[in-house]
Formats: sequence, C-alpha cells, structure tokens
Amino acid sequence: MRDDWIAPSILSADFARLGDEVESVLKAGADLVHFDVMDNHYVPNLTIGPMVCEALRGHGITAPIDVHLMVSPVDRLVEDFAKAGASYISFHPEASDHPDRTLQLIRDVGCKSGLVFNPATTTSWLDHVIDKVDMVLLMSVNPGFGGQEFINTTLEKLVSVRQIIDQSELPIRLEVDGGVKVENIAKVASAGADTFVAGSAIFGAEDYSSIIAQMKSEIASVR
Ligand code: DX5
Ligand code: ZN
Repeated sequence: MRDDWIAPSILSADFARLGDEVESVLKAGADLVHFDVMDNHYVPNLTIGPMVCEALRGHGITAPIDVHLMVSPVDRLVEDFAKAGASYISFHPEASDHPDRTLQLIRDVGCKSGLVFNPATTTSWLDHVIDKVDMVLLMSVNPGFGGQEFINTTLEKLVSVRQIIDQSELPIRLEVDGGVKVENIAKVASAGADTFVAGSAIFGAEDYSSIIAQMKSEIASVR
C-alpha cells in the first residue's frame, strides 16, 4: 500500500488570507503544503519567497512545507528556505550550474531534496545522482501558472520513473504537479505517483474537505 499525499499548491490560495487558507486545507486532510517560488527569470511569473515560508511557520503551521523552486540561480535560496522552515526543497536541474552540488547542499542544510522535470526535460538527469534525491517531481504542465491543462504524456513518464525508483530501492517520493483534479487523479496514481499537487482544483472548490476526500477516494480506488 502506498503512502499517498495530497499537496495543495498555495499558488491558488487567497494570498490576503494565506495563513488561514493553509490551516483550512490542512484541517481538510491535506498532507503537505506545496509552495511555488517563481522568479520572473526561470519562469515568466513572480510569487513568494522565504519570508512568506517563515511567516507560515510563525503562524503555527507545523505540516511539512514542500518548496518548489522555479528560480535560477538556485543555490543562494536553498539556505534561506532551510532557515525559513522548508521541509522539502525541489529545483529544476537545468536551472542550477551544478545540480549534484545543489542536491548535497539541500541535504546539508537539513532538508529533503527534490529534482523537478518539465514536460520536455529528460529524466536521465537522475542517472548519476539518484542516491542524493528524496523526491522526483514531474511537471504535468509547463511551470509558471496555475490552472493549466494536464499534459497526458506525463503518464508514460510517471511509469518509467516509478520503475527507476523501484529498481533503486531508495525511499524516493514521486510527485506530480499541474492540472491534477478529481477527474484524472486515479490515472495519475495508477501510473505510479504517490504525491499529488493540486492548486486550482482544491482552492477553487467550495469545500476543501469534500474535494480532498474525493481525491483520496479516487486514489484508493486504484490501490
Ligand atoms: C505551476 C506550479 C503548480 C501549480 C499547480 O508552475 O508549479 O504547483 O500551482 O496548479 P494547478 O493544480 O492549478 O495546475
Ligand atoms: Zn509547483
């Protein structure tokens, strides 16, 4: 039985009430908080940084915070996010000059490390560094915005990364990000994901508990 996690992306939350929004989704059954960091350089959008992560911790959020860095360069922000209370820190390997060094740095500062692959990015980046990876994140949209359509070729990519992870026998999580909703989450789960980011599908719903419960029951239907 897989330990499946739902990770609401706060990109679609009401930023004016962020602390309350995060509390609400956690109370509604979310397992970790997906925190999208965009720099208007690596991606064409600008969002939030370490100060906001620290503010959530100060607000009393104790759940794991899953920081998704869509920034270049990467390394300078790793330490800042570790100090700000991040649990996972994931980055896009092509955005770092030295991905192996960045992976080590993330673990050295006490966080779990993640590598993120865009729809067109090859997962062969994993070949020589898999022992330094705690999470693989497959983008099922091009990064930069919430509310985009799920790219279906991600399903095959999930199947192949699931095989790589299983063969490695390492405790690596497999996360999917972009366009995940009740209607497609079962397919994503059966392709091999165990960690499901959903932004607009959760924060756009009237009732967070009911949408998260529906997602969990869809996942359970293929386990
Ligand atoms: C996109 C972000 C995603 C996004 C997901 O660049 O990394 O986390 O917020 O949003 P939805 O679930 O609306 O596609
Ligand atoms: Zn994300």
